[in-house]
Amino acid sequence: MSNQLKILLSPPHMSGNEQKYINQAFETNWIAPLGPNVDAFEHELAHYVGSKGAAAVSSGTAAIHLALELLGVGKGDKVFCSTFTFIASANPILYQGAEPVFIDSEPETWNMSPVALQKAFSDAKKEGKLPKAVIVVNLYGQSAKMDDIVSLCESYNVPIIEDAAESLGSLYNGKKSGTFGKFGIYSFNGNKIITTSGGGMLVSNDEEALQKARFLATQSRDPAPHYQHSQIGYNYRLSNILAGVGRAQLEVLDDRVSARRKIFETYVSNLGSIEGVEFMPELEGTFSNRWLSTLLVDPKAIPITPYEIINALGEENIEARPLWKPLHLQPLFKGTDFYSHNDNIVISEVLFARGLCLPSGSNMKKEEQDRVINVIKQKFNELTITS
Ligand SMILES: Cc1ncc(COP(=O)(O)O)c(C=O)c1O
Repeated sequence: MSNQLKILLSPPHMSGNEQKYINQAFETNWIAPLGPNVDAFEHELAHYVGSKGAAAVSSGTAAIHLALELLGVGKGDKVFCSTFTFIASANPILYQGAEPVFIDSEPETWNMSPVALQKAFSDAKKEGKLPKAVIVVNLYGQSAKMDDIVSLCESYNVPIIEDAAESLGSLYNGKKSGTFGKFGIYSFNGNKIITTSGGGMLVSNDEEALQKARFLATQSRDPAPHYQHSQIGYNYRLSNILAGVGRAQLEVLDDRVSARRKIFETYVSNLGSIEGVEFMPELEGTFSNRWLSTLLVDPKAIPITPYEIINALGEENIEARPLWKPLHLQPLFKGTDFYSHNDNIVISEVLFARGLCLPSGSNMKKEEQDRVINVIKQKFNELTITS
């Protein structure tokens, strides 16, 4: 094992201005899950993405949960959801006692396939039971094919929750990722492009629904002088201190996007010509924040698995990870309905089998990225010499 400093996949990158907002919170004693930083963070983020409003919450998962609750998703309802994603996209479906139906990826964005979505809608219509919502995820910063997905969902009159946890700052036809559905959600988990250590945001043009989200997120406390509650509620509001961190992070979001895009381009220019290596595409008309630089290896071109590369990097104290394991393959979701893009191959399974994420932190130094590149080059060189 190398004794060089560890290179992490996507560590937090503070701007230096966070302390100013934290100090304000301390000086005014707003040490609570509400306060001026929370209000300002909501306004500033809504303004940045171009939605009418935003509700700050304790995590991206909480934001998805509230969106489902606001859409009236309950026991026995179906919710269509991208299969190629982190478990957090789908866990809130289970919190509501509803049933997920997983939708495969397509090759141009790696995200939800409109073809598979159409099949799922047709079957649901035949069964006389349309889903209550569709959760579409934009992975690694890349937007799904939102034009197709929005028009399909509109034609069946089913609302969209856009899981933009990984795509804050990305664009689809000039419009900010996360603003295409009835609701959009962002995550400020420690590994995201900007972070509050833990936190999330629900965005929408429906300000009444956002007001309801704030109510649900505050234990659904009725307006009464005593503590009165008429419906189930949650403790999901974001702390005023963490919102302060978020405000400073939002100020540098565009710089973080540029830095991550540059990291991606450096990987492509150094590794993109290796036979059997293919980087994540960027669909025409979209602009990815390149949250994580991800690539596929083709076992037909070169006899290597993602795990061999991940292990070689691990030996050099460099963190790399496989791509998300599709949710329809997770033991938790065994037996769940799934719609594939193709009849003979499942795109999300191919991506999982062949892909990996490389260190992509916006604060990664050039020497550090060189270390990553050199380990990968060496691994491929060894294989070409021996094969
Ligand atoms: C695609 C996706 N959805 C949802 C989440 C959940 O966000 P959080 O960790 O803030 O709950 C994450 C990240 O963690 C994610 O990557």
